[in-house]
Amino acid sequence: MRPVELASPLVRLDTPQGADVPRVFEYCQDPVMPEYLARLPWPYRLADATDFVTGYVPAAWAGDQEYTWAVRDSASPELLGVISLSVPVPAGVDAASDGAAASASAVRSSSIGFWLGPAHRGRGLMVEAQRLVLDWGFGTGLCDTVHWEAVAGNLASARAARKAGFRYTGLGPAGIAYRDGTHPPSWKAVLHATDDRTAPAGWPAEVVGA
Ligand SMILES: CC(C)(COP(=O)(O)OP(=O)(O)OC[C@H]1O[C@@H](n2cnc3c(N)ncnc32)[C@H](O)[C@@H]1OP(=O)(O)O)[C@@H](O)C(=O)NCCC(=O)NCCS
Repeated sequence: MRPVELASPLVRLDTPQGADVPRVFEYCQDPVMPEYLARLPWPYRLADATDFVTGYVPAAWAGDQEYTWAVRDSASPELLGVISLSVPVPAGVDAASDGAAASASAVRSSSIGFWLGPAHRGRGLMVEAQRLVLDWGFGTGLCDTVHWEAVAGNLASARAARKAGFRYTGLGPAGIAYRDGTHPPSWKAVLHATDDRTAPAGWPAEVVGA
């Protein structure tokens, strides 16, 4: 499909553009990125950012494989980060981990992924960006179940996912192979279209916090 724009008073999600390449390159130099993003090439080169923005993203929209948005402040064109929804859920992600409900709907399961540049974290932007993307994915009927996973210990991602309403389903090997071929222990969570979006109980204590 053609890329769609999503917006709220806080954030605007639109298509990553060639002008965003320097920011993508800059943000992806943060050493936590290769630790937490399974498929990020490392070292991350300018050519990787160019390929991502001008090649992968438009091709994945056109092929209905993965819908990726630039995350921007509603009042500025600057790229702050990226959020994406994969349909269907990538091979290896255990759609059955949520039990019968997810198994029954696995055909319309998706997975969500996101990151922000280091300077733009801590403002709750990704909770809002997830809300927009989830509303769109469920509202269009593209998916009725969305999976999230992160390397165990990625508290910022887990807290953002929990605040978006994801329900923790357990610890297990990452569904996606990391660049070294390993499947590190990962926290997993799920959200159904019919779930309310209040932060659920049941997450590891360190995610819930004090
Ligand atoms: C994951 C990410 C997008 C979350 O964005 P964010 O702006 O930090 O999210 P929030 O501001 O909503 O913060 C989420 C929570 O994590 C906490 N947090 C942020 N960084 C943290 C850290 N390094 N350690 C522990 N907690 C952290 C925040 O205090 C907040 O908790 P609170 O809501 O209880 O106050 C961002 O941290 C990021 O880009 N990380 C690197 C890439 C990544 O890990 N992507 C996800 C891969 S699964």
